[in-house]
Amino acid sequence: MRSGRLRFAATPEPIADAEVVLICVPTPLRDHAPDLHFVEEAAADVAAHLRVGALVLLESTTYPGTTDDLVIPILEATGRRSGLDFLLAYSPERVDPGNREYGMRNTPRLVGGHTPAATDAAVVFYEQIVDKVVPVSTTRATETAKLLENTFRHINIALVNELATLCHELGIDVLEFIDAAGTKPFGFMRFAPGPGIGGHCIPLDPTYLSWQIRRQVGRRFGLLEQAQDVNERMPNYVVSRIGEMLNEQGRAVRGARILALGVAYKPDVGDVRGSPSLQVIQQLHRRGAEVEFHDFFVDAVTINGERSNGVRDLGSSLEKADLVVLLTPHTRYDLEDIAARARLVFDTRNAFGPRRPPNVVAL
Ligand SMILES: NC(=O)c1ccc[n+]([C@@H]2O[C@H](COP(=O)([O-])OP(=O)(O)OC[C@H]3O[C@@H](n4cnc5c(N)ncnc54)[C@H](O)[C@@H]3O)[C@@H](O)[C@H]2O)c1
Repeated sequence: MRSGRLRFAATPEPIADAEVVLICVPTPLRDHAPDLHFVEEAAADVAAHLRVGALVLLESTTYPGTTDDLVIPILEATGRRSGLDFLLAYSPERVDPGNREYGMRNTPRLVGGHTPAATDAAVVFYEQIVDKVVPVSTTRATETAKLLENTFRHINIALVNELATLCHELGIDVLEFIDAAGTKPFGFMRFAPGPGIGGHCIPLDPTYLSWQIRRQVGRRFGLLEQAQDVNERMPNYVVSRIGEMLNEQGRAVRGARILALGVAYKPDVGDVRGSPSLQVIQQLHRRGAEVEFHDFFVDAVTINGERSNGVRDLGSSLEKADLVVLLTPHTRYDLEDIAARARLVFDTRNAFGPRRPPNVVAL
């Protein structure tokens, strides 16, 4: 910023002055298939204004083959050639919003160029802003690496979610055995169960991979499909457990006052895109519960087409509720205070740990 060489523009003309152009536009899904129209439009703008010798970097998460098969033809439509007139590489964005330990600088960058010269140029560029840059030999392998990272997370979350539901039936405390397994210093990575997955990465990105596998190889990515089933069922499971808890108190869900804590999809952010909390609240509403929510980062949400505001006086809402469900454990939540004020708490994220107070039930 201080050098004055970073400029912001809402039109594509300044691309003509840029030696490096980064494409980091959204890559959503439409009807369970990748919707690449943002990438196509951005690439067309880049092609129309690209200066000779520029380095183009695609950062959007996408299916293997996008850089070579989709972006190159658009950039070459004006007669320029990749490797001769411009350099093109893929480098996935790996940022984890809300993560205080790992930001852009200390999260290693993968780069895979269309040509070795493109990889080299991309390494030189990113080395100026991140501590470690890892070259990968092809754009496809780099695209797939990003999808593997999020598919790995998706499937492992499904594993602990399914175990949590089964172990509840067996009467085994899920957090205790996950923590016990987590003491193994190799070959195990700790994942925690929860009310489902949300955000705009983990629920979407693996579908890019399964879509491409089905399209190119004609086969299903069965393991992922099963994981998606498990994770998508979690909000429903949370609602059924709430029903069980109220039932034990001689109460029905209909008419019960329920306070949901945390509607963002993950702790310490205000992003509600795809948040399983919204599904839990929506289903509780449908079953006739009177649901209120609280979130330090979100003032209002739209559920079933209706806008509703979060509660402001957390203390009195905790005391009024028949049941408090902790869905997103923002670090600002004072767990001791919550347990002291609330009658009954359902801890869907195991935030209280295995030594929880007697009025707190874990997933
Ligand atoms: N945000 C994250 O935490 C994160 C993490 C990892 C990967 N990603 C990936 O990065 C990509 C971008 O995600 P995001 O969260 O920044 O998306 P976003 O929706 O927040 O915004 C992207 C920006 O692209 C702009 N845009 C759209 N079409 C354009 C066009 N034709 N020309 C120029 N600009 C255009 C939009 O105006 C917007 O400012 C996605 O592929 C996403 O999967 C994001």
